[in-house]
Amino acid sequence: MPVVLILGATSDMAIAIAKKFASKGYQVQLAARKPEQLKPLQSDLQIRYGVACTLHTFDALDFTSHKTFFDSLEPKPDVSICVFGYLGEATKARMDWKEAERIIHSNYTGAVSILDIIADHLSRQKQGTIVGISSVAGERGRQSNYHYGSAKAGFTAYLSGLRNRLFPDGAHVVTVQPGFTYTRMTENLELPKLLTGYPADIAKAVYAAVEKKKNVVYVKWMWKWIMLLIRSIPESIFKKMKM
Ligand SMILES: NC(=O)c1ccc[n+]([C@@H]2O[C@H](COP(=O)([O-])OP(=O)(O)OC[C@H]3O[C@@H](n4cnc5c(N)ncnc54)[C@H](OP(=O)(O)O)[C@@H]3O)[C@@H](O)[C@H]2O)c1
Repeated sequence: MPVVLILGATSDMAIAIAKKFASKGYQVQLAARKPEQLKPLQSDLQIRYGVACTLHTFDALDFTSHKTFFDSLEPKPDVSICVFGYLGEATKARMDWKEAERIIHSNYTGAVSILDIIADHLSRQKQGTIVGISSVAGERGRQSNYHYGSAKAGFTAYLSGLRNRLFPDGAHVVTVQPGFTYTRMTENLELPKLLTGYPADIAKAVYAAVEKKKNVVYVKWMWKWIMLLIRSIPESIFKKMKM
């Protein structure tokens, strides 16, 4: 039975991803800051899909614990999915380094810290998959969320480099670029219906991308073209826009 590890497992996307992989027969390892919150999901996966499911304590910001955390996993995962992230408050982050630092570490440094450890394992095993949930926000910095966007940009570049590094070893890296998605992260935002997806859409896209060894996936197809357009706006015009 293949094993999937989900980092940031209390997130709405992660819950949908866990259900998708369990429905396909994967054993599930759920890792989160407060794993006790995941007991109902653990029972649900075990009863509904008849798969093993274990809970693990994991804090993306506690870098020094990451090696011990990964060493403690038995069996080691075939697929590791990095879902955790933090949108934060953009205006607060401009003046409050603590908020800016939390956004950067939660979306970039924490992911690099744990994925470097997992990548070393995959490199030795000569197989396995890493999935990173990044964001279209990382494709061009905007005044409304440039701390979050720049951390996701760094994460997207990191995943690209990791994919390149692991290719000769036979291990694979998938970058997922969601646009707006209805989750706890966006519950206070007004989102355009046509452009906004659901956690189940992400789960479906992640599973298909792992199966088909896709490199970069946009969950709603129109985001690929929207971002192409946004990236092509000359900087002399872009800097005057309210985005
Ligand atoms: N929603 C969107 O529109 C959207 C769009 C593009 C990309 N994304 C990305 O999608 C991913 C999932 O987000 P979501 O929308 O499902 O939001 P969410 O429900 O708010 O999930 C965020 C998750 O990150 C976890 N987390 C935050 N800091 C952590 C830390 N230090 N250690 C471990 N876990 C931590 C949270 O855990 P706690 O429960 O402990 O707080 C929570 O489970 C994120 O990477 C996000 O940036 C979201």
